[in-house]
Amino acid sequence: SDAELTERIMAAKAALGDRVQILGHFYQRDEIVQHADFVGDSFMLAQAAKEHPEAEAFVFCGVHFMAETADILSGPDQAVILPNLAAGCSMADMATIDQVEECWKQLTATLGTGAPGGLQPVIPVTYMNSSAAIKAFCGRNGGIVCTSSNARTVLEWAFERGQRVVFFPDQHLGRNTAKAMGITEEEMPLWRPHLALGGNTAAELEAARVILWNGFCSVHKRFTVAQIEQARADFPGLTVIVHPECPAAVVDAADGAGSTEYIRKEIEAAAPGSVIAIGTEINLVNRLQQQRPDLTIFCLDPVVCPCSTMYRIHPAYLAWTLEALLAGETPNQISVSAEVADDSRVALERMLAARP
Ligand code: 13P
Ligand code: SF4
Repeated sequence: SDAELTERIMAAKAALGDRVQILGHFYQRDEIVQHADFVGDSFMLAQAAKEHPEAEAFVFCGVHFMAETADILSGPDQAVILPNLAAGCSMADMATIDQVEECWKQLTATLGTGAPGGLQPVIPVTYMNSSAAIKAFCGRNGGIVCTSSNARTVLEWAFERGQRVVFFPDQHLGRNTAKAMGITEEEMPLWRPHLALGGNTAAELEAARVILWNGFCSVHKRFTVAQIEQARADFPGLTVIVHPECPAAVVDAADGAGSTEYIRKEIEAAAPGSVIAIGTEINLVNRLQQQRPDLTIFCLDPVVCPCSTMYRIHPAYLAWTLEALLAGETPNQISVSAEVADDSRVALERMLAARP
């Protein structure tokens, strides 16, 4: 039963003490979040993995790319465990390293590779929601990682070093961030490979400022301008806050857009009695309503809107993982190879240093 699982988790966690840190993303269900030592957005979780040298292991309640990042940034003797290996991210899976390498080959063939020390023709930027192999690719090629909380700072970093950016894999975060910087729609084409098969022309790529990979989040793609209009009609004076993985028209129609931590802070600071519609994952939205019962908070999508892969971290997996650790085993360890980790770390450290 749920109560038994909670008891097992609490008992194993108490016995493990400081040896194990449980990290949880804001989208995790409450039955997981209640056991986490630290809860945050993907940027904060990456920092947390660097900040606990005393821990022998991190149990990462989130998705695969986040656990890879924790492995890269944590110490060499610290294990990172993903309680359910099936917890991936469909957006991260929309860019494979082979596709990215091929895109880079075609881009550099068209745009050149630039002179050493000068502005580069194109800088690769990857959203945190990507495999370690793609982060490593960015590290090797003068590029950088961003999260939804620092995408603008990171694009500014890239434009100090290059004429253009190629942005993997979320077209919406890329477009929303570029738009806020005054970059026009014509200057941000979607990447289409192979000219002969309808790919981008050389003129289109040369005129580009940001070349967008055609990826998206299936959760945030569900939010629409019609939902915002309906909610505003139902609740005059409504405030609408969305995640920047939503389509640009949705971000434009909202009152604010930002990372999960930004959304949390906006709710924390809201005036009592406010009515707020949120365009993000349902577990976070429901938790924010519980934390501020004096506000009226609801999800913009009237049909439930969970991230099905985040949801795969069920308390039964957490209990099993902690009990295995207690028995001296290290189940479901996420280990990024040393070569990929070294190059990824370059791109991640650039991001951590670029943050204002
Ligand atoms: P945050 O960086 O805002 O935590 O978002 C991660 C994510 O996967 C959103 O869908
Ligand atoms: Fe990936 Fe979207 Fe889930 Fe975030 S909400 S982990 S981007 S599928």
